[in-house]
Amino acid sequence: MAKTILLINGPNLNLLGTRETPIYGSQSLAEVEKALGEDARARGLSLQCFQSNHEGALIDRIQAARGDEVDFIIINAASLTHTSIGLRDALAGVAIPYLEVHISNVHSRESFRHVSLLADRAVGTLVGLGTAGYRYALDFAASYTAAPAGAAARR
Ligand code: DQA
Repeated sequence: MAKTILLINGPNLNLLGTRETPIYGSQSLAEVEKALGEDARARGLSLQCFQSNHEGALIDRIQAARGDEVDFIIINAASLTHTSIGLRDALAGVAIPYLEVHISNVHSRESFRHVSLLADRAVGTLVGLGTAGYRYALDFAASYTAAPAGAAARR
């Protein structure tokens, strides 16, 4: 059966392409999701995409992921990365492996962006690669879901 990947984007990422373009680039979220969807299809993966500006909606979507038989989550929780114990607990609660993505290099920015409440439980993190980071994340998700033990051993 096709593996299912869930892409989650948090607050303000709906503004991609127009928001602080020197930091986040000019690609819109719709363009990112379309390209990823095509990439997923070519790999025989099923991709679901969700964006919200609301912490509770993101938590609800993560909780629903178990019922949806999601195999892997790619998440850019945006500002909530640095603050949300609720998102951390939701990800732990569903126990679906996830990769944390940030478009910008959060470590070269303000100190409050250096802390992630999600990173220590993630399979890994990808930061500072621009919106291309989502593509690399899907590439990783494809190999991880094909052979989770092998992917884990590479860590
Ligand atoms: C971000 C980095 C966060 O610190 C910020 O709040 C965002 C986007 C990124 O993708 O670089 O909204 O997650």
